[in-house]
Amino acid sequence: MYKVGVLTLSDKGAAGEREDLSGPAIKEILKNHENFRVSKTLILPDEKDKIVEEMIRMCDQEDIDLILTTGGTGFSKRDITPEATHEVIERKVPGIPEAMRYFSLQITPRAMLSRGEAGIRGKALIVNMPGSPKAVKEVLEYILPSIEHGLDILQGNTSECARN
Ligand code: MTE
Repeated sequence: MYKVGVLTLSDKGAAGEREDLSGPAIKEILKNHENFRVSKTLILPDEKDKIVEEMIRMCDQEDIDLILTTGGTGFSKRDITPEATHEVIERKVPGIPEAMRYFSLQITPRAMLSRGEAGIRGKALIVNMPGSPKAVKEVLEYILPSIEHGLDILQGNTSECARN
């Protein structure tokens, strides 16, 4: 069972000016995956220092295995999620955002505008997803089985690399 932290990055969401639909969408999808349990959900503004601090707390103190972020990956001036993630991770995992964009480009060309990243800190994996609930629903089911296998390897829960 992997502990998941869900982090919604949105100035409007954090100020209560917009309902967060993406965090709940992530929770809803994970209900169908018995090996993942959401242990924390949080909405933060697009402030790099706050995001970095929370990610480090989740990984180092709260024993969270997987941080799924939503929002702040685009081109607007305040979008800072990938830069915050860079400051926290020790090893990049480019294949996950590559796969998300590859998959999403078959749905919308705008997928090329998400600058999301993924990476490893200790035994935890951090993955940036785009901000809309539509995007979350599109990509999460696609990446979850491989994320689970990656965590199994990262944490030594499997000695084999499954081929599919
Ligand atoms: N990916 C999927 N699967 N579906 C989408 O609708 N929207 C794109 C992109 N990725 C989208 C997507 C758009 S329009 C933008 S601007 C970027 O994600 C960045 O979104 P963010 O700033 O909310 O993180």
